[in-house]
Amino acid sequence: MSVETKQMPAANGGVIVAGREMPEFHQIGVEPLTGACGAEITGVDLRKPLRDEVLSEIMTAFEHFLVIMLRDQDLSNEQHKAFSRLFGELTELPQAPIYAGDRLMQEVRREAHEPASVVPFTKFHTDSPFLMRPPLCMVMRAVDAPRYGGDTAFANMYLAYEELSEGLKEVLERLRVVYSGKDIWSKNAKLDKDKQLRLRETHDFKEEELENIHPAVRRHPRTGRKALYVTPAYFKRFEGWSEEDSRPLLEYLAYLPHKLQYQCRVRWKPNTLIVWDNRFLQHCGIHDYANERRHLVRTTVIGERPL
Ligand SMILES: [Fe+2]
Repeated sequence: MSVETKQMPAANGGVIVAGREMPEFHQIGVEPLTGACGAEITGVDLRKPLRDEVLSEIMTAFEHFLVIMLRDQDLSNEQHKAFSRLFGELTELPQAPIYAGDRLMQEVRREAHEPASVVPFTKFHTDSPFLMRPPLCMVMRAVDAPRYGGDTAFANMYLAYEELSEGLKEVLERLRVVYSGKDIWSKNAKLDKDKQLRLRETHDFKEEELENIHPAVRRHPRTGRKALYVTPAYFKRFEGWSEEDSRPLLEYLAYLPHKLQYQCRVRWKPNTLIVWDNRFLQHCGIHDYANERRHLVRTTVIGERPL
């Protein structure tokens, strides 16, 4: 085992998790899911008002672990939205089906008889990078979950970036990516009926809002920590590169979140709630189940324009 990957005690005797020293928590229970990202939080009931000290520790855990999970949170839609607003302003998305007629809630739903292809993006991706201000985070709760399978996997893109060689980091520092969501409906319409994704059919977004250019390496606005921000979903090309020239580098970068040492998985149960950072993680639903319903509902918090 190399020095870099060994779990070395930090200077103050703490533990390195998710690539940084793990903060101390006194108000809530925090159990990391893996060494890479993710933590389960216990001792919190989101139906009740949160004390400032508890909320502060939840935010610390979110920033450190990038995905936090809480079990048994039987929230109404209003409670779900109220908790979400602690992370920022909510938004709708042009392509994501709305839930319960509420434009500020979306759903990811696969009925027991439906194929995996009904759910968009069963490969690692970040959500809606084509927007000028892509989502900061999603707050997602399971209504129905398969008894076994149907996990969501996450990959820490800080770690993916930090372990690249210096030469490739230099190349990526100068690169920007053209992301576009303009043609997802027309592409979907060309697929056979049983292969089509469940997309939102109408929205009020303008055409020009559906394509934007973002840095391939983005920075956390407070800490400055850098992460890889390249995903094949909605990817058109690197700015100034043809689509053909872009493909080999994209393929290599798209492979990185598959490395197990960057990942954690969330196992859903009804009323499991998670908040995941859509800026510095990639995620992927795992469709390793059949004949069961998987129904996840969520809100989307607007992020900053990638830095
Ligand atoms: Fe997604």
